[in-house]
Amino acid sequence: MKKTITSRLRRNKILRDLVSETALAPHNFIYPIFVKETGDIERSRWGGMEKVPLSGLVEYLSGYIASGLRSFLIFGVPSSKDSLGSHAYSGDGVVQRAIRAIKASLPPVNILTDVCLCQYTDHGHCGILEGSRIHRNKTLSILSRIAVSHAEAGADIVAPSAMADGQVSAIRSALDEGGFEDVGIMSYSAKFRSFLYSPFREVASSAPAFGDRSSYQMDFRNRREAVKEALQDIQEGADMVMVKPAMPYLDVISELRRILTCPLAAYQVSGEYVMLKEYCKSTDTDERGVFLEALTAIKRAGADIIISYYAPEVVKALREEQS
Ligand code: PBG
Ligand code: ZN
Repeated sequence: MKKTITSRLRRNKILRDLVSETALAPHNFIYPIFVKETGDIERSRWGGMEKVPLSGLVEYLSGYIASGLRSFLIFGVPSSKDSLGSHAYSGDGVVQRAIRAIKASLPPVNILTDVCLCQYTDHGHCGILEGSRIHRNKTLSILSRIAVSHAEAGADIVAPSAMADGQVSAIRSALDEGGFEDVGIMSYSAKFRSFLYSPFREVASSAPAFGDRSSYQMDFRNRREAVKEALQDIQEGADMVMVKPAMPYLDVISELRRILTCPLAAYQVSGEYVMLKEYCKSTDTDERGVFLEALTAIKRAGADIIISYYAPEVVKALREEQS
């Protein structure tokens, strides 16, 4: 019987590189940014996840663009909230102003915008409430207004994340009617009701004031339902779909990659980011190594696009590896 030696192909780095199956590339990353109206740049207590004032935004982004990042997902952190989340669709809203500033003074980059209400409503839910329930039609009409206002400001892709039934088709129709046929939709199709969102909610002040999001976000026990959500969104007009969070949902990513033909994105969410950061801190483990492993696994599972708070460091790491 011949002895099988598989480690022969692991003997040195150039050989390992030759047979490697997965590679991260800077152009597949999206960096989420938080924009506020005034004040100074604020770093989160875990490092990264900065909140940037409008006045400092162009300078903040130009550094990342110079280092090779090309895609940004904008979250607005408004200074006032109300029951309709009216700041979210105002032409002078923080996101709309941010997009205009970027498009006016920076080289071409992909601007994606989060289309949701939770940062903008006084109750912190992702839709318009009637009593304690989300009112579907009112929510859809407001989400459509938000998307159109982002497109008017110059957004390239809108990313509805409210998990409201019919949001993709409502937004697609509104964009088309407004003359924005070329603005794309990246749907947060398989967005699970997760416990990994709390750092984000702290940074964006978007925690629900009562209850939780389990009546609209997906139940984490379900995979077939994620397939259903994604197919539904594509039928409604989504150009790409997303799985969120990423690491505990690699099976969902892998399944969707097998079935779908459109680009598939995965969101390494704030809780995943903090978990890995804190792990590195408390065990003195190489941070880049840990993140590159996790992000490569997300890509290996089938994600074409990765949204990550670590994106700037990835771009740096990949660059240094090349030189
Ligand atoms: C809600 C929204 C959430 C995140 C972004 N938009 C989740 C939530 O509050 O339920 C979380 C992203 C992250 O944790 O990084 N529209
Ligand atoms: Zn929301």
